[in-house]
Amino acid sequence: MNFKGRSFLTLKDYTPDEIEYLLELAAKLKDNKKKGILGSSLKGKNIALIFEKPSTRTRSSFTIGCVDEGGHPEYLGVSDIHIGRKESIEDTARVLGRLYDGIAFRGFKQETVEKLAEYSKLPVWNALTDSYHPTQILADFLTLKEQFGKLKGLKLVFAGDGRNNVASSLLIGCSKMGMDITILAPKALWPDKELVEVCTGYASAGHSMIEITEDLAAVSGADVIYTDVWCSMGEEDLETERISLLKPYQVNDAMLKMTGKESTVVMHDLPAVKGNEVTEEVFERFADVIFDEAENRMHTIKAVMVATLGNM
Ligand code: CP
Ligand code: NVA
Repeated sequence: MNFKGRSFLTLKDYTPDEIEYLLELAAKLKDNKKKGILGSSLKGKNIALIFEKPSTRTRSSFTIGCVDEGGHPEYLGVSDIHIGRKESIEDTARVLGRLYDGIAFRGFKQETVEKLAEYSKLPVWNALTDSYHPTQILADFLTLKEQFGKLKGLKLVFAGDGRNNVASSLLIGCSKMGMDITILAPKALWPDKELVEVCTGYASAGHSMIEITEDLAAVSGADVIYTDVWCSMGEEDLETERISLLKPYQVNDAMLKMTGKESTVVMHDLPAVKGNEVTEEVFERFADVIFDEAENRMHTIKAVMVATLGNM
């Protein structure tokens, strides 16, 4: 397996074995950190963090993951630099490519993160775009492995905005890793058809199933119910419409009962709007899992940086 110099723009670009390797590396780095052992694989490396949208977990994870491995992270908020206004993405990328060793990008268009990779020639890591949030899914999978000891064979139901970045990335990740995935959402918020087709190919290779449905009965047998905000960053003015569309899909006690399982866990990538996509009571009951997920953002992001840029 060769990770060196590669970007991490979407999980589509990584094989199931490569994803498994990154999860194992993250678990090892996590274990080491708990024992007080830090690495030096990013020593001498400068990493640019370009953020067009706000972030608590992802920004902190790139910063801490980089510093833990001896590197230097530099936060470049879009209002601090010229990108997209006085200077094109292509020119910014070529400049950063001369100065830095890696770039994390969070923003609106997937096309921007792709251009940054193409023109900087550096490893570029997608820290969330409107289309995908691949590093989030690595943290979710590490958390699931800690909870269930495996990924293959688990049934995950995503309830909510089935076409958002997290749902789309879960669709890719679960179908690649042999997990059954159900997107439970109103038809107006179903995932992109082409993406579903691509993921159906992954699922048939891994002998798992994809289901896209409006029917709440689909939660039956779920090992995991996963939800996310009803309005992603940049969609705030759609709030009224989203609440009326998604209210039946709130993760609450009634939905949990319909799984027919005692062992079902609830996951959320955070930040959460309690009272919308999840009730406060259910959120608090699964807080340990949800905050493990948040912590695991750092260990998994560190693994991606170490694998693609580190001297190992
Ligand atoms: N889950 C996640 O990406 O959180 P932040 O927006 O705080 O980075
Ligand atoms: N779908 C959410 C994820 C936040 C981490 C958003 O894009 O705002």
